[in-house]
Amino acid sequence: MHKKIYIKTWGCQMNEYDSNIILNNFKKKKYKITKHPKKANILILNTCSIREKSQEKIFHQLGRWKKFKKKKNIIIALGGCVAKQEGKKIYKRANYIDIIFGPRNIHKLNKMIDLVLKKKKKIIKINSKSIKKFKTYSNIKHKKKISQISIMEGCNKYCSFCVVPYTRGKEISRPHNEIIKEILYLTKKGTKEIILLGQNVNAYNNTFNNNQYKFDKLLINISKIKKIKRIRFITSHPIELNNKIINVYKKTNKLSNFLHLPVQSGSNYILKKMKRIYNIKYYKKKIKNLLSIRPNIQISSDFITNFPGEKKKHFLKTINLIKKINFDYSYSFIYSPRPKTKSFNTIKKKKKISKKRLYKIQNQIKKQTKKWTNNMIGTIQRILIIGISNNNIMQLYGITDNNRKINFFGNNKIIGKIKKIKIIKINKNKLFGILIK
Ligand code: SAH
Ligand code: F3S
Repeated sequence: MHKKIYIKTWGCQMNEYDSNIILNNFKKKKYKITKHPKKANILILNTCSIREKSQEKIFHQLGRWKKFKKKKNIIIALGGCVAKQEGKKIYKRANYIDIIFGPRNIHKLNKMIDLVLKKKKKIIKINSKSIKKFKTYSNIKHKKKISQISIMEGCNKYCSFCVVPYTRGKEISRPHNEIIKEILYLTKKGTKEIILLGQNVNAYNNTFNNNQYKFDKLLINISKIKKIKRIRFITSHPIELNNKIINVYKKTNKLSNFLHLPVQSGSNYILKKMKRIYNIKYYKKKIKNLLSIRPNIQISSDFITNFPGEKKKHFLKTINLIKKINFDYSYSFIYSPRPKTKSFNTIKKKKKISKKRLYKIQNQIKKQTKKWTNNMIGTIQRILIIGISNNNIMQLYGITDNNRKINFFGNNKIIGKIKKIKIIKINKNKLFGILIK
């Protein structure tokens, strides 16, 4: 009988991407994928350690799986960033785990499981410099209009709060030709929009056939793929958003009119402590350059509040910047001290962390997001038409450059195309438009 495998994924899109690679490798070996952990012979948890909370959730989850182990012989494998960060230490809290594997070792999981079955011993593999894992594609079966693809892994920036360089390792870029090949494969399955993934995509750098491919060249070459109608990417570090990349916005309208460019704080004092290596003047200049090419481009960001040393005056600078740039939907977090990072030892243990500042950021962003949406009424938007609306089978729906869903009446034949739509109304946060001929 085929062994059944269950995987649970926490964290970012890159983790989702990795989990799909894992599943595809198992499918090759004739394992069956199950959606029910109780039915599985192999349980895999692909984890995230960007903030402490996510890590605690993991041990609760493992505790629940431990109970299954008492009833039948199952294998539990813990992978991803927590596995890489904690390594052997995990056995202290969860000695029933059979396999610990890092984000760059996912392609070896099949072999590790065979070994555990044969030798009945625990295996830990968390170190690897290569990214051989990408030899298997992540999106094999899916026929989605929008696909994600990892183009690089790791980060060399070492922002003082961030665990990524320690968990995902040093920056390494996938070969340019491999990326193009995978995107061509995806277009055959129906992909029209591609989202390039990486911890710091604009640091992309690969040499192939004596040609150097940096991020701007990669974007241009992807834009030349006829069937790809729209390109997005996450995440960028402002320091590497150079003029060559900004100029790509001029060269192709396939680059979406929306950019996620995490600033983290509006205070130069805090940015310096965070080791973000830019200041607010620099950040604003980048946005100005972008706006000179794309006057309507919308910007989103990530923010961290309660960073060690953040006083009210620094926090107010963040609020001011949020208003000034007029950020659209953005993410915000309370600083979470992470082991190994530079800022880990500088925080004085506070009895209770106030969430007030976080809520203030979130409220301001919420207000602005709503305003951006309301201001869309009467405008003409480019949308990628995804399919038939879930709420009304008479209608189609599509996604705008700024990630809004629009419903409208149209013929099924235009599914998968980019079309212009005039937004005419908004009802309970749902936008409705009409096709422009
Ligand atoms: N490469 C991206 C960030 C990836 S991590 C960049 O250049 O900004 C995603 C987001 O998680 C970060 O932008 C940051 O806002 C948040 N984050 C990372 N480490 C954190 C920590 N220790 N505490 C709170 N938030 C954190
Ligand atoms: Fe983290 Fe800074 Fe890199 S936030 S992912 S170390 S750019």
